[in-house]
Amino acid sequence: MSKVLITGGAGNIGSFIVDQCVELGHQVVVVDNFYNGKYCNIADHLENNRIELETIDIGSWEMVKYIFEKHKSEYVSHQASLMIMDSNKFPHKAIETNVTGTFNIIQACIKFGVKKLTYGSSASVYGNPRFVPVTEDHPFDNQTLYGATKIAKEALMQSWAYSHHLPFVGFRYFNIYSERQGLGAFYTQVFQKWIHAIHEDREITMYGNGEQTLDLVHSSDAARANILAMFNQDVKNEFFNVGSGKETSLKQLLALIEKNLNKKARVKYIEADPHLVKRRCASIEKIKKLLGFEPMITVEQGTRRYIEFLLKGKI
Ligand SMILES: NC(=O)c1ccc[n+]([C@@H]2O[C@H](COP(=O)([O-])OP(=O)(O)OC[C@H]3O[C@@H](n4cnc5c(N)ncnc54)[C@H](O)[C@@H]3O)[C@@H](O)[C@H]2O)c1
Repeated sequence: MSKVLITGGAGNIGSFIVDQCVELGHQVVVVDNFYNGKYCNIADHLENNRIELETIDIGSWEMVKYIFEKHKSEYVSHQASLMIMDSNKFPHKAIETNVTGTFNIIQACIKFGVKKLTYGSSASVYGNPRFVPVTEDHPFDNQTLYGATKIAKEALMQSWAYSHHLPFVGFRYFNIYSERQGLGAFYTQVFQKWIHAIHEDREITMYGNGEQTLDLVHSSDAARANILAMFNQDVKNEFFNVGSGKETSLKQLLALIEKNLNKKARVKYIEADPHLVKRRCASIEKIKKLLGFEPMITVEQGTRRYIEFLLKGKI
């Protein structure tokens, strides 16, 4: 069994990677500064002494080096990041975490002989798609600082990690959701915010005509993509889309939420923000072919699951 270090391990996707590594019998080290992570996402494992926790900021090279030297992990999954809204609010912190922090992780992996690094990129690199489904060779057309940091991460992987023989796999996540996510994430303005608002009989806002689409995939599926890549010797230095390969329009999502909550929403329609991405739909042919990845939780199941957690008071 191996030792796996997971940055952002208390967060939405990272905590599912933690679960899956523990299930497989690996030793796990979680690195998180709890900026957006939640203790409850990893509490069971901590209380059962199944994982170790290091509360540090990956922006500090000294701290990253210290943790890597201490734990001597064989594999690393790097999920720590500032999300889109926070990147706009705190641009220097976005660069420090997403770019410098990623460089620190790469350097530490090289210095301490890590066998493979998987990490979270984003569909933001594509911007507003010129065609769908979006394949990995779709041009980068990002217009956000967050997306710029994700492109910078990819460039660091392709240059520094590659030239120092550190095998890596990057995932361009589409709309990843789960009951473990903080409410600050961008697209959750729709998924979670609508669920909570309708549940509490508050009005929701629909931008435009509701025809905009998301490609929603559950965080446990995104986590599994990392596991599949981490231990596959034949796949390295690649970037993969992680999505469901299916579009869900805002209208469809609303109908799904109403059905599962058994409530009718009060909807205020306002003009669509022209800067928002109109369609998200991943081609998942590459990840299916090279990693055997198939999403296992449909958006119907994921919505039902989220609402069950909410109704049981677990969110
Ligand atoms: N959720 C999505 O839809 C989505 C889409 C595209 C890309 N991604 C990417 O996937 C990765 C994981 O996203 P997520 O949804 O789990 O987000 P998340 O916010 O739930 O998890 C990120 C974790 O990183 C931690 N963190 C932030 N800054 C840190 C720092 N400086 N040092 C140490 N820890 C720090 C946070 O506390 C949090 O636990 C990120 O790289 C994100 O950009 C997510």
